[in-house]
Amino acid sequence: MTRSVQVALEGRSYEVAIGHGLIAEAGARLAALATRKRLVIVTDETVAPLHAERLRASLEGAGIAAPLIVVPPGEETKSWEGLSNLSDRLLDLNLDRGELIVALGGGVVGDLAGFAAAIYKRGIDFIQIPTTLLAQVDSSVGGKTAIDTRQGKNLIGAFHQPRAVLADLDALATLPAREMRCGYAEVIKYGLLGDPAFFNWLEVHGPRVVAGDADALLHAVTRSVEMKAEIVAEDEKEAGRRALLNLGHTFGHALEAETGFGDSLKHGEAVAIGMAMAFRFSAALGHCSGQDAIRAEHAIGAAGLATHAAVLPEWPYRAERLIGHMAQDKKAQAGKLTFVLARAIGDAFVAKGVEAKPLRDFLHSEGAI
Ligand code: NAD
Ligand code: GLY
Repeated sequence: MTRSVQVALEGRSYEVAIGHGLIAEAGARLAALATRKRLVIVTDETVAPLHAERLRASLEGAGIAAPLIVVPPGEETKSWEGLSNLSDRLLDLNLDRGELIVALGGGVVGDLAGFAAAIYKRGIDFIQIPTTLLAQVDSSVGGKTAIDTRQGKNLIGAFHQPRAVLADLDALATLPAREMRCGYAEVIKYGLLGDPAFFNWLEVHGPRVVAGDADALLHAVTRSVEMKAEIVAEDEKEAGRRALLNLGHTFGHALEAETGFGDSLKHGEAVAIGMAMAFRFSAALGHCSGQDAIRAEHAIGAAGLATHAAVLPEWPYRAERLIGHMAQDKKAQAGKLTFVLARAIGDAFVAKGVEAKPLRDFLHSEGAI
């Protein structure tokens, strides 16, 4: 069964299709967009041998030529150098503005190829075919594209919405378990920030999602995409409600910065700990009950994700250093810290101007020194 979610943006609405076998159907599904009968697939070295041939065969079957550009996997590719290399290769193929880019891969390929599409010849259309759970429920939807610089992650980029998203759940069959868990952190985020009924469902079925159960995945990805689509339609450029999608990210970002953005703590794992911390901080400030914080922790932990920074290498970290990282976050304004906190499970809000003192006390209560 294929589900369809509309991202409603005036003049730029698009469909996210979610289901099985969508890569094999890509030729038929994208034919109406590929009017020039050529598009360029951008993918990475890990995904290419697993999924690119199936995509290319489907497109060629529909009479669409599909040259392939394969980039190295990993966050380092989302860089000025990665962007420059990709842009050169697009220019070498003499892609023109009526043609399309297809991003086949995780969030790294989606963010890089999406940003290249945003600026290539002043902007061409692109399509997302996300192959990680994280990319299917989050990064492929909503039009944020970016690269990292030496100053930080995602600091140079553009809002550039895709023309279509094909989230093929079959692609997740080849995804390592750790990456599934990382994506699941973003799934649980939707329940925690705005849908208590979905959270209740995840409390029961979350482990099935992480194990790759077909029905559980279809429901979890669809509900996540519905929530993201609704939030993006209301607040495309993050002037307000879209900031809720950053639940867990301020704490998580500080932990990632402290561990050097390396393999010891992946983004989804940092978000998982960050969400548990955001709920504990909310409880400490009296915004939500301690019971809600415990429920959030249990649901995150049940998926095999950590909920306390104490498990990280070289813990304890210094509270002042963590606060320093938080102050550098894109969301911080004029040195004031912004957090997404919660009144209850499924009822998150943006708290601006959080004072350093209660934050420091909280970090000490977590074991920071
Ligand atoms: P990723 O793209 O690095 O993918 C993780 C790993 O899985 C890579 O090694 C990749 O090669 C491999 N992989 C991808 N699909 C696979 C498959 N089907 N089978 C086997 N291996 C596969 O990482 P990610 O977690 O998908 O994305 C993280 C990136 O997304 C970060 O750069 C983050 O900043 C960005 N992001 C962007 C947004 C947004 O709104 N644009 C939102 C969240 C995250
Ligand atoms: N991943 C956060 C956003 O898309 O706004």
